[in-house]
Amino acid sequence: MPCYKIRLQLDQQLDIEFCMAIKRRQLLILGGLAIGGGLGGAAMSGILSRKPDVIAPTTPQTPVANNPQPIASAKNATPNVTQSVTRSPNPAPKGLFAPARGDVRIVVISDLNSAYGSTDYIDQVKQAIAFVPDWEPDLVLCGGDMVAGQSNSLSATEIEAMWQGFDKYIAAPIRKAKLPFGFTIGNHDASGSISGGQYAFESDRNVAKKYWNDPKHDANLSFVDRAGFPFYYTFQSNDIFFLVWDASTANIPSEQLKWAEKSLASEAAQSAKLRIAIGHLPLYAVAKGRETSGNYLDEADRLRALLEKYKVHTYISGHHHAYYPAHKGKLELLHAGVLGDGPRRLLSGDITPNRTITIIDIKLANSKTIYTTYDMDTLKVVDQSTLPKYIDSPNGRITRRDVKI
Ligand SMILES: [Fe+2]
Repeated sequence: MPCYKIRLQLDQQLDIEFCMAIKRRQLLILGGLAIGGGLGGAAMSGILSRKPDVIAPTTPQTPVANNPQPIASAKNATPNVTQSVTRSPNPAPKGLFAPARGDVRIVVISDLNSAYGSTDYIDQVKQAIAFVPDWEPDLVLCGGDMVAGQSNSLSATEIEAMWQGFDKYIAAPIRKAKLPFGFTIGNHDASGSISGGQYAFESDRNVAKKYWNDPKHDANLSFVDRAGFPFYYTFQSNDIFFLVWDASTANIPSEQLKWAEKSLASEAAQSAKLRIAIGHLPLYAVAKGRETSGNYLDEADRLRALLEKYKVHTYISGHHHAYYPAHKGKLELLHAGVLGDGPRRLLSGDITPNRTITIIDIKLANSKTIYTTYDMDTLKVVDQSTLPKYIDSPNGRITRRDVKI
């Protein structure tokens, strides 16, 4: 049973903890917690509905005139005012920087795996997953490489064991927190590489498909089109349309691109307040050792033009193991950093490679996105200004997202 903390601002601060079962998007009963007048503000941390912002008491209370009482008597105080409790405006794990929450909040994780065949995850991954509910996101997105396949020496049993490890350490905690989990398949999850007219890693593809289509592993997404799930699909969340394509290799098949265009042109996509696309490989390279062909998408400019045509706001990717928020043309590019093994250096600058997790706060009225990215080794926020102002990828220059050109 989850525990929640209420912070009451009187003459001094008082924290009260209580435990009760709460479902997301429910109003909360908080009768009986009134202390008296002078309530400067009450904040609740926990998973609560954002709308309405004020959580109304649902038990009858008798409003009375303010009758301030000393904090020392608070425990024995009789409820004497009608209270309203607002959700926390800036939920975050204890001790970490707490950004202001947008209308929609997304946690972005990526590249979680370790050595080939691994069924476990490093501590930074586990810590990040444990933190996730404290940010109170609407959605968790993963840029792929959730397991460590793409080795033909792994048997189907070993591949299944990896996914069971993923379920234990990643998916089950996210399901328990009742958070939707959107993801894109990485090259180590289920590579779409073709050899001799067949999938080179067919076992990876089969096991991943079986895992994600098992009702026990429900990702809790509001699908628009799941015919190609888990490889390519669309879903909606909080008035945002998400398109996931199979960028586990550099080449997205032409049939799938036709599907992507049709999906983005649809009423569901175009009537949404925002559109976001997700794929494992980025359009442009950002990391050392990943600047070779095959590590970023073929025909990036053509793909970018497609996304721009249908007003996609941001393309989120993984694979490069280096955080870099950028823009090119009319498209924002979030190169999600790595959480698991193998942080990499950016192609420019001298930033020490790090493991990161990114919180995106979205303001729907003006389509503004605010990133808060934490270094999962230091738990400090990454200072965007320390990142290079631009990166010259082999297939084009991309510019840091806050730098105008
Ligand atoms: Fe990858």
